[in-house]
Amino acid sequence: MKAQRDQINRFLRKTAETSNALIENQDERLKFGLELVADLISSVTPQKKSENLIPREKDERRNFFREQLLALTEAIADHYEQVPNASTITIYNFEQNRIAHEINTLNSFCETGLMLDLGCANGRNCFSLSKVFQKIIGVDISPKMIQVATSQKWRGSNATLMKHIDFKIHDLEKGLPFIENESVSMVIMNLGTGSDIEDTRMILHEISRALKPNGRFLISFYNASALFFNLPIIWPLSLEGEINNEDHCLDVHFQDRVFHLHAHSFTVRQVNDLFQKVSTLALSGIESFPTVMTLLPDALLDKQAMETITEIDKRLLDMKRGAYLLVTGYKNS
Ligand SMILES: C[S@@+](CC[C@H](N)C(=O)[O-])C[C@H]1O[C@@H](n2cnc3c(N)ncnc32)[C@H](O)[C@@H]1O
Repeated sequence: MKAQRDQINRFLRKTAETSNALIENQDERLKFGLELVADLISSVTPQKKSENLIPREKDERRNFFREQLLALTEAIADHYEQVPNASTITIYNFEQNRIAHEINTLNSFCETGLMLDLGCANGRNCFSLSKVFQKIIGVDISPKMIQVATSQKWRGSNATLMKHIDFKIHDLEKGLPFIENESVSMVIMNLGTGSDIEDTRMILHEISRALKPNGRFLISFYNASALFFNLPIIWPLSLEGEINNEDHCLDVHFQDRVFHLHAHSFTVRQVNDLFQKVSTLALSGIESFPTVMTLLPDALLDKQAMETITEIDKRLLDMKRGAYLLVTGYKNS
């Protein structure tokens, strides 16, 4: 353990050097960064979590997770707008880029009619895509999140521009009963929300039922193989949360509390297996992002460091060790 910790500390120190312009040339910086990551990965063994407060009995467990999720969303909803941490910013940017790509693909096959944002929180994606789709429905289990989203919809000049966006309090474990068959052009379930749902197969079948032929989906899961979840790191990370792969639980630290949420992380192979069982959904990509950014403390990530490490993370997409698995695809026609 000590050797591993020393190795990580060395990695952190060197990454700081890498990013503070001691190496002037961008290509050199990237090469150096990639070598450091390769070094780090070769030295790591997965970490196991021991603490376990989660009830064993199925219904108790479900109620426990639901209460915790509602308590977290209640506490966090009013802070959601504030500047997010470095890793979250890079994930937002990465997802936006992929969403834009899916929309471009969609344009050639299927109209941009109805979009569903599953786990919409404060409606961030619904608002940013308001000009693209004729109708948008944002769904979230959290009344507080939907309250924040709805109040933003009616704020100032938003009111007329956002008329075609509806927000709905709904538990996705109950499927999408308010959506007609083959009526949806695009479904987004981003930022790991795919992992929040216990009955993953059911929700995928529901997404398939809802999508029009050639309609697109973008679903994000937590990556069970992420370095971020498997390293015994001792400093505050730029992405908060610890996953317990065995108990399907994510511990989220917010202010002075720890919230325990249901979270089923997946490996790339498990995602492939899962989608094979829903044959009407075809995969077009599984990408994993970000890898290194999540391992570093926010304090280290000034603008230049963020640019460099984001570049490194883009080059590490193939390694599939990033915090999230971003899965894109379409409904077979
Ligand atoms: C990681 S956040 C994603 C937020 C948002 N899509 C964004 O990009 O900022 C996950 C959201 O999914 C919601 N959620 C989790 N489980 C849910 C469920 N079973 N039904 C509906 N919403 C759920 C949570 O309340 C939370 O707002």
